[in-house]
Amino acid sequence: MIIAIANQKGGVGKTTTAINLAAALALRGRRTLLVDMDPQANASMSYLDVRSLDRGVYDVMTGSGLSLNDVAVATPVDNLFVAPAKIALAKLEAKLVGEIDAHFRLKDRLDAIRDAYDYIVIDCAPTLGLLTVNALVAATHLLVPIQASYFALEGTDDLLETVDKVRSRANPSLRLLGVLITMHDRRTSLARDIREQIHRVFGEKVFQTAITKSVRLEESPAYKEPIFTFAPESSGATEYYRLCEEVIDRG
Ligand SMILES: Nc1ncnc2c1ncn2[C@@H]1O[C@H](COP(=O)(O)OP(=O)(O)OP(=O)(O)O)[C@@H](O)[C@H]1O
Ligand SMILES: [Mg+2]
Repeated sequence: MIIAIANQKGGVGKTTTAINLAAALALRGRRTLLVDMDPQANASMSYLDVRSLDRGVYDVMTGSGLSLNDVAVATPVDNLFVAPAKIALAKLEAKLVGEIDAHFRLKDRLDAIRDAYDYIVIDCAPTLGLLTVNALVAATHLLVPIQASYFALEGTDDLLETVDKVRSRANPSLRLLGVLITMHDRRTSLARDIREQIHRVFGEKVFQTAITKSVRLEESPAYKEPIFTFAPESSGATEYYRLCEEVIDRG
């Protein structure tokens, strides 16, 4: 399974979901590669010291002859590897302009190494540009985190339109794995209303598990740990573990 985690809206929990879902899969014994497709490199930083790395996904995608396995780095979590991003990834769009295979670069690089992993999780940038399209073309499944806030559904139409375009030609078998409600606050009626609204729009595609607001989830990346070792008793650990079960079941 190759799962792209995407929503062009910023700060909705994509990276938090990518790093913890990937860790949950790895801790369950699945060999997992986390691919960082965001020049902000937040997913990479959550496990690695990115300043010490001299190459990343950009180098693989621009035809230097490197494979994703050449840049993938083992993390402190057993079975979890990260193909890191560096800020250079921001130049990718300009670099690939006019290249016939611009949308297929990641897919081609993943095809070469996918047999080595049980799961590949791709953390996307908050854009619908070439980086995210590469992820959607390469993925078998899409997971959309939606923050339980007032403008939650704003922009999802554009995302789904992009998905339809990708499906119509480049990747007909791309499936919506599910919609994940993040940063949910059970105490407020607004959050409950928004949750209902998301259910009305996406029906059974919404994961049963919602991720509640938790300071622990904000803190763990600074310690380069997934939530499961950083705060195993926290709501975030329980919820991301449950999400992982649902992902495996839906796969
Ligand atoms: N369930 C949660 N509870 C509390 N804070 C959270 C939760 N999920 C994410 N956060 C925090 O919210 C901020 C945004 O989350 P995150 O970086 O995962 O979003 P993102 O969609 O990847 O953002 P970007 O669009 O910039 O890539 C981060 O500071 C993160 O620690
Ligand atoms: Mg992010």
